[in-house]
Amino acid sequence: MCGIVAAVAQRNVQEILLEGLRRLEYRGYDSSGMTVLNSGALTRHRALGKVASLAAQLATSALPGTCGIAHTRWATHGKPSEANAHPHHSSNQVAVVHNGIIENYERIKDTLQASGYSFTSETDTEVIAHLLAEKLATGLNLFEATQQIVNGLGGAYALGVMSAAEPSVVVGARQGSPLVVGVGIDEAFLASDPLALLQVTDRFIYLEEGDLVELREHGDIRIVDRQGNAVERPIQTFEHGDGAASKGNYRHYMLKEIFEQPDVISAALEGRLSDSSVLVESFGPDAQALFQSTRQVHIIACGTSYHAGLVARYWLERYAGVPVQVEVASEYRYRHPVVPEGTLFVTLSQSGETADTLAALRFAKTLSYIGSLAICNVPGSSLVRESDMSLMTRAGPEIGVASTKAFTTQLVALMLLTLSVSKAKGQPEQQDIVTALGALPALCQQVLVLDSQIETLSQAFAEKHHALFLGRGAHYPIALEGALKLKEISYIHAEAYPAGELKHGPLALVDSEMPVISVAPNDDLLEKLKSNLQEVRARGGQLFVFADERVGISEQDDVRVLTLPHVHEALAPLLYTLPLQLLSYHVAVLKGTDVDQPRNLAKSVTVE
Ligand code: M6R
Repeated sequence: MCGIVAAVAQRNVQEILLEGLRRLEYRGYDSSGMTVLNSGALTRHRALGKVASLAAQLATSALPGTCGIAHTRWATHGKPSEANAHPHHSSNQVAVVHNGIIENYERIKDTLQASGYSFTSETDTEVIAHLLAEKLATGLNLFEATQQIVNGLGGAYALGVMSAAEPSVVVGARQGSPLVVGVGIDEAFLASDPLALLQVTDRFIYLEEGDLVELREHGDIRIVDRQGNAVERPIQTFEHGDGAASKGNYRHYMLKEIFEQPDVISAALEGRLSDSSVLVESFGPDAQALFQSTRQVHIIACGTSYHAGLVARYWLERYAGVPVQVEVASEYRYRHPVVPEGTLFVTLSQSGETADTLAALRFAKTLSYIGSLAICNVPGSSLVRESDMSLMTRAGPEIGVASTKAFTTQLVALMLLTLSVSKAKGQPEQQDIVTALGALPALCQQVLVLDSQIETLSQAFAEKHHALFLGRGAHYPIALEGALKLKEISYIHAEAYPAGELKHGPLALVDSEMPVISVAPNDDLLEKLKSNLQEVRARGGQLFVFADERVGISEQDDVRVLTLPHVHEALAPLLYTLPLQLLSYHVAVLKGTDVDQPRNLAKSVTVE
């Protein structure tokens, strides 16, 4: 998705902005650009493709100045091109960077064109530059002009704007897309993601919906709310160290993040379990009462987070006895859901800024839920701020577009939720699961040791065009997640099915060209799964089975087996995720794709 970074400083800001853009690359983008105010003139470079292309332009023609805005664009209106890249200017008097979508831009554009403004891009954003120019021409300053025009903008936006007439001023606005202010020493910054600014500050103000902010020289920051009232927003110190934003010794962020899982799973558990029991208060002071009265749970999320929700359905129903519905946010938000009495609304999101999930939460708040809980990786994100309760997954920044450690820590959080709901309802403690959770990081470490074996296995996939993933019970969502990972980063078409569903259609696809990947934990569905695997073999399919050391599935000509350590049945979905992540990773590396920033995808999907 698009990214914004802006600075008003005492020093040259070009390198600060450029580094900010590099740090935003992980979000996914197709072009970038920068405008800096130099001796009263707005000077701009824009480039199609990677930030490195913009950097090359800057190396031959620098943009010196102490005040500037920069952007990475992920195309929504208008193809990826230099002309469509931000910043957009109006007569070189105003510069604008924008995340989000202006839904009523066509009508505004018609009016502006009728007034004589000409457009140089196909974007929705350019209307903002001309609207501002129109207001500035009436004698308003940049802040006042922004305040007036945002009322007429429909849709979602985070904005950073500057004017040639006001050196050392950047104005920002937020409605529906995240925007943070970075608080420096005698300097101030703006970004759509705090990670973009960690090289200059770790102190941030998270703007609220409707806020407008003005950054001036000497670090002056003024914020007004939607009604125009001056407001103070708290300064928060960013929790994750800057080291998280580097690859360390790993070839890709994704690999680093896969290997971080033992540590982040430990972090996700820390302080949330006693020797034999879950600490319900981890979810907040009201959690005990809320969970006690919870009769149903609705879980809403997108993508990988949705898959975590599907696993939680099996857990909450089996171990807490509570019926659960799980749905993707983009469908839920446009339905007319029936909310039975005593229903808890749960959202799952790595970023906490996914537009569909946020919209679903806002919609849910108009319905009769008993409360909302966000399970999220980003403290201070919109989802966390707008939910009644939250539990942080503590995965640390996840840079690879393909979600890995965010997923497994979500599963940990969801198991803590399952145990907490069960405990709050006075059901017998699940001590064996609590003990098994404590042992989980070490088991994950044992699985990661299998990396080189999985790398060898991956060679069988490099030339394939399709793959089928199978699982049963709580491992069906793990198969879905395995297929999503393979699709996302290796561009191999992959499907996932509950293994028992194979004979109802997908079996027709199975031949020697179709690799079939299955997870085979030691659970009560094992014998059923074994029969399904025989169905594949009988059709000449090539099987790849990730199997518990105790299940007795042996390697044969047409069956490759990777043996995993035994794990408590309840936690097997967590452990079996890791080899599937590694498999996708190695296949993608063999295929030479852009592993951390796969084509067409964005890390945080902040538009609908
Ligand atoms: O930040 P979120 O968890 O809300 O993001 C949801 C999806 O966009 C995300 O999980 C996406 O599917 C990932 N690319 C999966 O690897």
